[in-house]
Amino acid sequence: MHFHTIIEPFRIKTVEPIRQTTREERETALKAAYYNPFLLKASDVLIDLLTDSGTGAMSSYQWSAMMKGDESYAGARSFYEFERTVRDITGFTHVLPTHQGRAAERILFGSAVNPGDIIPNNTHFDTTRANVEYRGAMALDIPIAEGRLPQVFHPFKGNMDLEALEKALADNPGKVPLAMITVTNNSGGGQPVSMANIRAASGICRAHGVPFFLDACRFAENSWFIKMREEAYRDNTPLEIAREMFSYADGCTMSAKKDGMANIGGFLALNDDALAARCKDMLILTEGFVTYGGLAGYDLEAIAVGLREALDEDYLHYRIRSVEYLAEKLAAAGIPMVTPPGGHALYLDAKELLPHIPQSEYPAWALSLVLYLEGGIRSAEIGSVMFGRQPDGSERPPALELVRLAFPRRVYTQSHVDYLAEVLLYINSLAPRIRGVRIVEAPPILRHFTARFEPAHRTLIVN
Ligand SMILES: Cc1ncc(COP(=O)(O)O)c(C=O)c1O
Repeated sequence: MHFHTIIEPFRIKTVEPIRQTTREERETALKAAYYNPFLLKASDVLIDLLTDSGTGAMSSYQWSAMMKGDESYAGARSFYEFERTVRDITGFTHVLPTHQGRAAERILFGSAVNPGDIIPNNTHFDTTRANVEYRGAMALDIPIAEGRLPQVFHPFKGNMDLEALEKALADNPGKVPLAMITVTNNSGGGQPVSMANIRAASGICRAHGVPFFLDACRFAENSWFIKMREEAYRDNTPLEIAREMFSYADGCTMSAKKDGMANIGGFLALNDDALAARCKDMLILTEGFVTYGGLAGYDLEAIAVGLREALDEDYLHYRIRSVEYLAEKLAAAGIPMVTPPGGHALYLDAKELLPHIPQSEYPAWALSLVLYLEGGIRSAEIGSVMFGRQPDGSERPPALELVRLAFPRRVYTQSHVDYLAEVLLYINSLAPRIRGVRIVEAPPILRHFTARFEPAHRTLIVN
């Protein structure tokens, strides 16, 4: 007998209570947070989908491995365990631990990228873009056309536009120190990249003598999508698929806060001895000695176990299915979203849902506020507040107004997802009555973290 219910592949040993609040309490909390979800106290949030980064639940095996943490300054046993695991999965020679993903990016770009260079990527994540631009280089996003169309189905919407890659390399000899592909493509909706695309991109880079790197934060989720959607890999394990993905690359940056299943950590891994030597010098200068980077020995232990757990088939099945399950419920109610849903998150299309709110009144931000007000759910705007302000201070609205519901790993169960669906269906019924917001005060850069807002029309929801 084959049963169809996909269960959470764990039982719960420790619980962290979450608190129900009244609508009045949430209204007060929103006002106190200047209508900015980043300024809410986490204890006032019922279901926190702000990010999947560092918010996962560690397993009993990870916690027990932490007790083995060797805190020696140099040559700790925990480092060799970590290095063995990263090498086993990625095949890369040099493994540099860092305190999180952006530190790996800073060290790599700081060692390999010069002013005026160009870095192609399917889509740079915002810290990746910022670290490229900080070097005076250009971050070139070249996703396939379908990757920019929220309602269009494509099994691998995270793919890179290979013609655009070929052109970027042919037109700029000596100006592209490396190219990258982000798996899965977070800023493009958490969409996967096919093995065929990774292989072809790698081939183009090798033909031009350009090193090819993966931003590997969600390598395990990407491996699962390849298994599910790329016929040739149906019978391969996620580990085999991950190994093949990495085999096409010369190195990777990694935030272990995602598919490392840890609350902190990351690494840079690469094959080039000379580049690795320069990166290790930078590592020592800014993170710590080469055998701990910015991490404690117990963090290295937790990541070593977490990287393997992230490749477990039952876990990946449950994880990807949780997001898909919510998407199916929302699709049945006609709620617009990026299709198909991503691996770690579902992205609501606020422009479609709230067409009456002009982008100058931040529809996706308003939707994220209503999600909190009505359901105690915290989400992240990926729209005009995050991307609308240009370096010269002017406003240019982005193409998409999205609200990201990012799922922490192994934290929420099916009843939490059912609750989310119920709240979203209710909000859908309120849509014509939802109004926008205006900015009262904002810092010049990365304004979404600290800007203060108020309703543009007295209340967020009118009668
Ligand atoms: C695709 C991608 N790259 C890089 C990073 C940066 O990692 P960290 O937050 O650990 O610095 C993230 C984090 O969200 C990410 O999603």
